[in-house]
Amino acid sequence: MSPLINALLGVLFTLIGAGAAFIMIHLKGRSKDRAHGKTLVQAHRVLGYLFIVLYVLMVVTMIIRISYYQDELSPRAIFHVVLALSLLPLLTVKWIVARKYKLLTPRLFFLGTTIFLFAFLLNAISAGHYYLYKGEVREVTISSIDRETMNQDIGRQLIVKKCAKCHTLERVFRSIKGEEGWTQTVNRMALIDTPNIRDYDAKQIIFFLIKQQENRIGAQKDVVEEEIGKTLLEKKCTMCHDLDRIYQAQKNDEEWYATVERMQQHVRDPDFLNEKETKSIVDFLGKRPGN
Ligand code: HEC
Ligand code: HEC
Repeated sequence: MSPLINALLGVLFTLIGAGAAFIMIHLKGRSKDRAHGKTLVQAHRVLGYLFIVLYVLMVVTMIIRISYYQDELSPRAIFHVVLALSLLPLLTVKWIVARKYKLLTPRLFFLGTTIFLFAFLLNAISAGHYYLYKGEVREVTISSIDRETMNQDIGRQLIVKKCAKCHTLERVFRSIKGEEGWTQTVNRMALIDTPNIRDYDAKQIIFFLIKQQENRIGAQKDVVEEEIGKTLLEKKCTMCHDLDRIYQAQKNDEEWYATVERMQQHVRDPDFLNEKETKSIVDFLGKRPGN
């Protein structure tokens, strides 16, 4: 689940809790409100079950997310987990009392308020943090001044720490991209993993990936270009047919441009390939042996 959806669910969760708590305050504070009494109790129950459903959904997502963490959790994350898990016994007790132990019903009000307090704190430290931090996420690039403070060892360590959480590192090291491509990808990953990949991390990682690629392939610029074209081709052109279909065709550059242009029309997405990417693909296809 994306951080945005998570944060929105958190807010919804707290609002539902607030709604349920408010209904109870109203009923307690005005026991004369007989006219709406039944409907309100019914509404409280519906909100209560919605609350439980959302709770289960979010706890499951949380556990899956945590299982990806390699580092020690931050104090904020630990507090979040403790609060989230404490809700489980509280909710269970409340449900059992409400269903089975009528004599204890007067205590339910305090239990309900405590549950709301926990939900509120949980949301305040997590969704609140997300909304505050979100504003800072912007495209990070390695500008010329930055290059002096860039260090490949730091970049390597950061990649191992930050980029192996959701997929293998092989996925990272097997992709070949130019500076622009890596800048885009790392920024996208930073957004997916907000707020774990900070600006500083992103810069070091972009720097390392570009350097590592240069070292691996040596100074042969052509080979890098070829790999970039091939990677793009494998990523973008295998959505609707396989690569054989492409490799079987023999065309000159102009014809390849026309073909790629036609494919772009099939996709109906103007952002499918930009000019530079189109050129990489056409260059690769035009130069490959057998064309
Ligand atoms: C929160 C999980 C998460 C983290 C952390 C993460 N990735 Fe990814 N990565 C994904 C997902 C999901 C995809 C597939 C969807 C996509 O491409 O957007 C992906 C795809 C990729 C791809 C293949 C797609 C492409 O654009 O070439 C590369 C390369 C990549 N990630 C590199 C990185 C790097 C480098 C880092 C560390 C800075 C990183 N990832 C950290 C979730 C993550
Ligand atoms: C949205 C789906 C889609 C994508 C993505 C796509 N193609 Fe195609 N491709 C088609 C369809 C449909 C045909 C058959 C009709 C035609 O030729 O226009 C085709 C046919 C082809 C052919 C055989 C026809 C010819 O002109 O020789 C080649 C080569 C080709 N595609 C190359 C590519 C390349 C290169 C890319 C990546 C830039 C790509 N395709 C991406 C849908 C797609």
